[in-house]
Amino acid sequence: MTTDPLDAIFSPSSIAIVGASRSRGKIGYEILHNLILNEYQGTIYPVNPKARSVHGIPAYPSVLAIPDSVDLAIITVPVEVALAAVEECGKKGVRGLVVITSGFREVGGPGIEREERLLVLCRQYGMTMIGPNCMGVINTHPDVQMDATFAPTPPLRGGMSLVTQSGALGVAILDHAKSLGVGFAKFCSLGNKAQVSLNDLLAAWKDDPETRIILAYIENFGNPKNFVRIARETTKRKPVIAMKSGRSEAGGRAAASHTGSLGGSDLAAEAVFNQTGVLRANSIEELFDYAMAFSLQQLPRGNRVAVVSDAGGPAIMCVDELVANGLHLAELSPATIRLMETWAPPEASLRNPIDLTPQGSLDDYRNALDAVLSDDGVDACIAIYVPPVRVDEVEVARIVWQTAEKHHKPVLTNFLGRTEESPGFAELVSHGIPSYLFPESAARALAAMYRYARYREREEGKTRIFEVDRARAAEILRRAQAEGRPRLAETEAMEFLEAYGIRTAKSRIVASRSELPDAAREIGYPVALKAVGSQLVHKTDLKAVLLDVRTERELLDGAQKMERGLKARGVALDGFLIQEYVVDGKEVILGMTRDKVYGPFLVFGLGGIYVEYLQDVAFGLPPLTDQDASRMIESIRTYPLLTGVRGEAPCDVDALREALLRLAQAVLDFDAIQEMDLNPVIALEKGKGYRAVDARIILVGPS
Ligand code: COA
Repeated sequence: MTTDPLDAIFSPSSIAIVGASRSRGKIGYEILHNLILNEYQGTIYPVNPKARSVHGIPAYPSVLAIPDSVDLAIITVPVEVALAAVEECGKKGVRGLVVITSGFREVGGPGIEREERLLVLCRQYGMTMIGPNCMGVINTHPDVQMDATFAPTPPLRGGMSLVTQSGALGVAILDHAKSLGVGFAKFCSLGNKAQVSLNDLLAAWKDDPETRIILAYIENFGNPKNFVRIARETTKRKPVIAMKSGRSEAGGRAAASHTGSLGGSDLAAEAVFNQTGVLRANSIEELFDYAMAFSLQQLPRGNRVAVVSDAGGPAIMCVDELVANGLHLAELSPATIRLMETWAPPEASLRNPIDLTPQGSLDDYRNALDAVLSDDGVDACIAIYVPPVRVDEVEVARIVWQTAEKHHKPVLTNFLGRTEESPGFAELVSHGIPSYLFPESAARALAAMYRYARYREREEGKTRIFEVDRARAAEILRRAQAEGRPRLAETEAMEFLEAYGIRTAKSRIVASRSELPDAAREIGYPVALKAVGSQLVHKTDLKAVLLDVRTERELLDGAQKMERGLKARGVALDGFLIQEYVVDGKEVILGMTRDKVYGPFLVFGLGGIYVEYLQDVAFGLPPLTDQDASRMIESIRTYPLLTGVRGEAPCDVDALREALLRLAQAVLDFDAIQEMDLNPVIALEKGKGYRAVDARIILVGPS
């Protein structure tokens, strides 16, 4: 008895094809055909009320008529009869469903309700479902050998598993993989992912011994919070390489805050990938470039790369790409260079990148590879070869893999001008050496391996739950929502932050001038004075802000002047906000924005009014660990300003990190918040914390 509900999908002992058609070209026919062609190891039951047999196998008018138990049913009947067919599966005790049929949520209108009913049936009968509107599933394990898709290309067996949100792209990927000679363990086209999601598949394949690399085509992350957690656990065990289509949608709507205007960039997607260790590929080609590197080679221990070539140009292009992707050109030891001088042709350049020139013999090429791979200062090597007409490329390929085999360092190659059909490519790949058409591709693939190696080593840190006054924060939001206000008043925003333990500049609201001296004494001079009123939005323009007020006299005079000025402009004033005046700090911004694709995002950057122009910000996807928060803060270009330059005292970075973590907690607690903008937050000297001086909180509008 198996416990994993996905076993019924990927390792069924028997499959019913409900809608197994007698006509070639129809989906129900093709799936049955693929199951037979790939020698499915279980029992197949075609279901078709109009046929006595399909493909020579006895057919049944309904699943209920099948005499034995059925683990998995593939639904390929038209949508009008699909629900009735699914209900029969439920009654039969079928455990897994793959619903190929389309006409559900993706068509809107009645399709949405149809999908709801489909889900109800799954729940009612305890069935696990892939789809609807999907292309099917594959498991190449010899005990199963199931190709339950209508893809024309049956995959080879291998260590990659692919989950895709687009059936068509799935077919393209399977096709391309075959041409490269790389194989799959499992394949799943998710379709509408009404029940089983990308996250479920990642969680399942994380522990699947057959799956060594996970490939994913992602359109959206479903539940981003779960995605972060599951993807993190998965990438610690095996590489996940993903193609993500569609840019963030946040940019599409008018942003109401600084943070909002920053969220629309593709940086948000990058943050998800960086934080989870998922490697992003920008095309199918790159997906396979990476997949080939990961499946054939070991990870590099460091970032020092040697390039061996018989041509200068491609070597330089390779170096440029390596450096642009965070790798270093290895400095060869004098001993290595001396050794090479004993046999290299006089034209050769023996400083990394090594250019043997076309004068270099096969032996020179072998010796050069051997020399750099033996050097302790080299972590990886890219071998570039521009085949001259007279040399047999298979011989060169043999030299590369035979030399690489003697060393425990990754070696990638670029045989310029040689395609996947060339014999050199086949010789390399079949002996475990990834080979690329262009030097840049090899460089990027190696850089992806290094990024992943570093990710695997990095400390994930801990998520902390702070004791906060959640009820008070909830009440503030509830009140604004009840009054139909899209935005919290400034004082409410500050109170909300305080409820989550985020330090704001001390402030008091007073109704009249006479109350100002007491309030100022309570807060302590210097103070900032702001006029409060519903018409007062752009306070600076209205001269309704007075900073650095040091005495009671200055305070009262200033308040009187402000009152008069506003009166003259016909602006009503409800009272004053008097606030601790925070000096001697660095202005930073902390914020969050809710993206339609990725969910809530935290933002950290150097603050103030230039934040949109400088774009020096880092994104983080909650839940954040303490290490994530540190990485966010440390990743901005201007981070050195926070640690103190030119003899300045360092800022309280620890306190800022805690503020980010508290903000992350608030964001996860309240889906009603659309955007938060704490700008500026004044970061004080180490040990003195920070103060949020201004805050905006915008609520999610009615959808
Ligand atoms: N139980 C079992 N079989 C039934 C049935 C029932 N209740 N009702 C009809 N059938 C049989 C039909 O007789 C037919 O067999 P036949 O060709 O031997 O007569 C077979 O099921 C298929 O029915 P048909 O009406 O011919 O449908 P179709 O093959 O044209 O289309 C789908 C069915 C599911 C493929 C179609 O409705 C669909 O959804 N297509 C889109 C699929 C898609 O793109 N998915 C997403 C991919 S990424």
